[in-house]
Amino acid sequence: MCNYIVFVFISAEDGLKLILMRKIATSSDHAGFELKEFLKVFLKEEKYEVIDLGTDSEKSVDYPYFGKKLGEFVVREKIQGIVVCGTGIGISIAANKVTGVRAANCINSTMAKLAREHNNANVLGLGSRIVGTELAKDIVNSFLETDFMGERHSKRVRQIE
Ligand code: RB5
Repeated sequence: MCNYIVFVFISAEDGLKLILMRKIATSSDHAGFELKEFLKVFLKEEKYEVIDLGTDSEKSVDYPYFGKKLGEFVVREKIQGIVVCGTGIGISIAANKVTGVRAANCINSTMAKLAREHNNANVLGLGSRIVGTELAKDIVNSFLETDFMGERHSKRVRQIE
């Protein structure tokens, strides 16, 4: 599921260095813009290549457009994504309309872990008016570090499509 970009550095001091960067997409509406920008910095520090699908300011926009745009992108690119709006609800609903998207709006890291383990969620929804920045980082970490458990959950996930 995870797409990696490989960077190769050659320097006199360190010799050959390979850096693996995982790609992740993100989008938000105006209400989620600030948290999205915060998470972009955090993800880049964590060595992710972040593809930002907008919005690009706090000017009022409609979340369905950005949920659908993110959903179509993650399905096409076979990567994971993060959507942010005021509650995380509207933009997750919109993303979930795209076939192949399993967006989970999470308010704590346990939900994010279980969304990955049991539901193989490929999109994380966050509400900027619900979670603060530190909690959002915890939720994102749990989501990105947890693998799908497969086994009995696989047939249930298949039944969603
Ligand atoms: C925008 O005010 C707000 O409705 C939106 O960000 C989101 O919370 C919708 O679910």
